[in-house]
Amino acid sequence: MKIDILTLFPQMFEPLRQSIIGRAVDNGLLSLNITDIRQYSADKHCKCDDYPFGGGAGMVMMPQPIYDAVAAIDPDHSSRRIYMSPKGKRLTDALAKELAFSDKNLLILCGHYEGVDQRVLDLCFDSEISIGDYVLTGGELAAMVTVDALSRFLPGVLGSDTSNIDESITSGRLEYPQYTRPAEFMGLKVPDVLLSGHHANVKKWRNEESEKLTQRLRPDLMRCEK
Ligand code: ADE
Repeated sequence: MKIDILTLFPQMFEPLRQSIIGRAVDNGLLSLNITDIRQYSADKHCKCDDYPFGGGAGMVMMPQPIYDAVAAIDPDHSSRRIYMSPKGKRLTDALAKELAFSDKNLLILCGHYEGVDQRVLDLCFDSEISIGDYVLTGGELAAMVTVDALSRFLPGVLGSDTSNIDESITSGRLEYPQYTRPAEFMGLKVPDVLLSGHHANVKKWRNEESEKLTQRLRPDLMRCEK
């Protein structure tokens, strides 16, 4: 899958070069292209924002640099074009999965300041995604969260093909507690069943723990069950 990201702050995406996403990029499972919108500014000082018509605080991102960047990167509108915004559809694991399984590439716009001129959103973008009911200083962190969440569903990105099926939320249950060596730490022991080597009992224990945790911490997830 190819993901283009348009931003005024390309260096903010350095964290995506690490760990699992970094490896997915190195292995060619994911192509991440970060474009500096400033490159497309027609202004001699590369200006990309201006005061809002009608007054008010802050600056608004101008339409021209974004329009030209989108036209250069996705001339035939073959990508799904998304604007990261607190007004958007809420990102869930189901939406992340849908994006990953779609045969379309993605083009993601990160806003900054007080927002983006509405005309370029109307002209160029298909939808908006929000990562939660809070306002970030820009769309970059939201874009990174989105890329990370969807990458887990791309074939081959996680070591084992089952590891995203087991996990919290995807399964409709919170994940059971995990333990590793040593078997005793600061006087606290790993539950005996996990050391028993009895796979059926381990499975049963994990299911029960998931159920109990979900009841206690996120009973809403149980109510959502189909
Ligand atoms: N930009 C600013 N806040 C945001 C949010 N909550 N989700 C997505 N993009 C944003």
